[in-house]
Amino acid sequence: MTGVPIDRFLHEARAALGAPHVLTEADVLAGYEVDWTGRFRGQAAAVVRPGSTSEVAAVVRLARAAGVALVPQGGNTGLVGGATPRAGTVVLSLRRLTRLDPVDRASGQVTAGAGVTIGELQRHADAAGWAYGVDWSARDTATVGGSVATDAGGQRFVRYGGTRRQLIGVEAVLGTGEVISHLGGLEKDNTGYDLAGLVCGSEGTLAVVTAARLRLVPPVGERVVALLAFDTVDAALDAVARLRLQLEGIEAVELFLLDGFTLVAEVMGLASPFEGQPAAFLLVEAAGPEDPTPRLAAAVDALGGVVGVAVATDAHRQAELWRFREGHTEAINSLGPPHKLDVTLPASELAAFVRDAPAIVAAVAPGARTWLFGHAADGNIHVNVTGVEPGDEAVDDAVLRAVAARGGSISAEHGIGVAKRQWLHLNRSPAEIAAMRAIKSALDPDAILNPGVLLPPA
Ligand code: MLT
Ligand code: ZN
Repeated sequence: MTGVPIDRFLHEARAALGAPHVLTEADVLAGYEVDWTGRFRGQAAAVVRPGSTSEVAAVVRLARAAGVALVPQGGNTGLVGGATPRAGTVVLSLRRLTRLDPVDRASGQVTAGAGVTIGELQRHADAAGWAYGVDWSARDTATVGGSVATDAGGQRFVRYGGTRRQLIGVEAVLGTGEVISHLGGLEKDNTGYDLAGLVCGSEGTLAVVTAARLRLVPPVGERVVALLAFDTVDAALDAVARLRLQLEGIEAVELFLLDGFTLVAEVMGLASPFEGQPAAFLLVEAAGPEDPTPRLAAAVDALGGVVGVAVATDAHRQAELWRFREGHTEAINSLGPPHKLDVTLPASELAAFVRDAPAIVAAVAPGARTWLFGHAADGNIHVNVTGVEPGDEAVDDAVLRAVAARGGSISAEHGIGVAKRQWLHLNRSPAEIAAMRAIKSALDPDAILNPGVLLPPA
């Protein structure tokens, strides 16, 4: 053992986890050191891969004793740099925590380890006659732990809410190394602070999630997906509230615009189901015990500005239509690392913001391109900007200030991470930030969990 803290930590971690689970070779670390977009990068001192909750607790205690900072990481699909190591930190990979208990069919709940992917969880629930309500395109890489840590939202939020709404309890390791575990699955349980709710969305700054008790939903029998094309963006946004009022069983209402649609079609090699060049699109999914197609058709007939409709009732064609929406992330990334500004606007401000966003970007980055898509029914727009250097934050500043000035949130679902912490004050008062700091120092007194994430420098 040497006197250098990181060497001491690595030596003790090898003893606790076994040498194969303490990684230090540069080429092996590389995959853990860059985020999905390529915008955020860092150099880890090591990656540790515990295989159980008690091993996670051991790692946290060793890190605390050595004063080594840990960056918890699941599937590494985050988009705000929250799981990307900062220099000298150790990545705490949770991917080996793959516990997946049998679905409790009586309660419609399941306990899943942090390293289970969302796709695995969904298939596991389906096989037991239940469904998991949260879904997004990174489902086969994103993990339960990461989704709880970031309160992941996704494309079915309009129907089921986000991860916090599915969360009944967590098992997690605090920054002190203590384990809190509340996986009993009681739906009604008013016994003090909602620690699961607190850990959810804390982005690895308070505790390391090792398992979650999750609420499942009954599966809905019949499903229809429609891609609607509109002559104007305003007509598409107008249609959102109308569809929500008139179409029972809405599962998703996703917006994208002509340039994104065209890019996705090019990059993915998809054929447009429409003639001409519609300005905007809504991908609508509805489900119910009986075929919702006639109800969808009636609701669409009542809308204005619709210039094209493609309907899919079989799963294969439904997936094809979804690719126009889900392909946005990958297609935009093919142009280089984007600035991803995931924001929510009040419903009354949404149309004006979508109209103004390209000009807000152009005013500070004339050569940049702005791509707008997102979860229209939640007021959640993903403002993606390409053609701007990763470290140039002028665009982020302009867009986030414009959003906050309109009463919106600077993070709808991706979190704050390292990307947005300097703008947290736009949405949170000094008293709120002070309360967050107090919680942080109670649960992680030596600030070893994800330093530099979420909270701005004191
Ligand atoms: C999505 O809605 O597709 C995800 O939030 C990912 C993204 O914003 O690119
Ligand atoms: Zn999204």
